[in-house]
Amino acid sequence: MANLTDSFGRSIDYVRVSVTDRCDLRCCYCMPKQFHDFHEPEEWLNFDEIERVLAAFARLGTQRIRLTGGEPLVRKDLPQLAQRLSALPGVEDLSLSTNATHLDRHATALRAAGISRLNISLDSLNADTFRQITGGRLEKVLNGIMAAREAGFRPIKINMVPMRGVNDHEVEDMVHFCIEHQLTLRFIETMPVGDAGRSATESYIDLSEIRKKLEQKFELIPGVMPGGGPARYLQVAGTKINIGFITPISQHFCATCNRVRLSVDGTLFTCLGQEHHVALRPLLRAGISDRELEHTIVAAIRMKPERHEFNESPEKVLRFMSYTGG
Ligand code: GTP
Ligand code: 5AD
Ligand code: SF4
Repeated sequence: MANLTDSFGRSIDYVRVSVTDRCDLRCCYCMPKQFHDFHEPEEWLNFDEIERVLAAFARLGTQRIRLTGGEPLVRKDLPQLAQRLSALPGVEDLSLSTNATHLDRHATALRAAGISRLNISLDSLNADTFRQITGGRLEKVLNGIMAAREAGFRPIKINMVPMRGVNDHEVEDMVHFCIEHQLTLRFIETMPVGDAGRSATESYIDLSEIRKKLEQKFELIPGVMPGGGPARYLQVAGTKINIGFITPISQHFCATCNRVRLSVDGTLFTCLGQEHHVALRPLLRAGISDRELEHTIVAAIRMKPERHEFNESPEKVLRFMSYTGG
């Protein structure tokens, strides 16, 4: 099988696709409260175009695909797209990152469509704090998580961005919640992606602090989890629960990066923290051949930058997380 390797010897086998930049929530680190400046649907890749790009990646050796956004479940007929992508030869892992507000209605269809793993954002277990961070209703998300468990998704990973003075007092409660419901818990450091991300870094917390706090309450032993992402896991001794730490700021993981991102309008971004990109949509709509498409992807990956510069140049990434894919 072909293999996509960049100029730093990293093998790229994970594509994250933003299927919409819209979202029904407004998480403070992701999108400004009044934000409505979304791409128009005609600028989005349609399902045929997304499938075409991902089929080319699969022929080049990609095994993992993640659907993300914005909130992927606000894109109409998402299970149909999932079905098409999970059927691509060579694709072994189709996963979804969601805020879970619509998951109770869609969980069964998504599972049937071949999505096996779910990552769900949940920053607070307190309804008022949850509303303050996201503008949404906690109850809907909790219903979505329970529906996902009933539909048989394993593992389900909970993503929490700890913010000082906002939700950092809840990290222990979150561990207990995840033990009770057999969920994996991951903590993520706030990144300066877009204006909202940059403002949120005011309450940034280095995750080594959270780890030390938890070590006083729980015995943590080395752990592992299925998945292709950058989290480092510790297991809570005496349980099956893993806690993942995603540390793009305090300890970046670019040397082992395995991914690229396809944005909602069909732009291929080779790094979350840099501007390097190739606009695939105009090429697709101008009738590029499959072979040329593969060449374009191989060339883009050769140009993948070595690492982000979130610490040195936090002003760099202007685009919103929801456009590139979280
Ligand atoms: P799996 O391990 O496959 O389950 O996925 P994941 O952890 O990559 O997926 P998820 O969408 O839940 O990503 C969690 C968060 O990790 C993202 O929102 C980012 O905040 C961060 N992250 C993921 N990939 C990258 C990356 O390539 N670079 C950086 N800097 N951060 C990333
Ligand atoms: N910094 C860190 N994580 C972020 N996410 C979105 N924006 C940011 C940011 N600026 C996370 C969400 C979601 C995941 C896909 O991306 O918490 O769980
Ligand atoms: Fe990969 Fe860029 Fe993310 Fe670093 S910041 S892990 S190089 S995508």
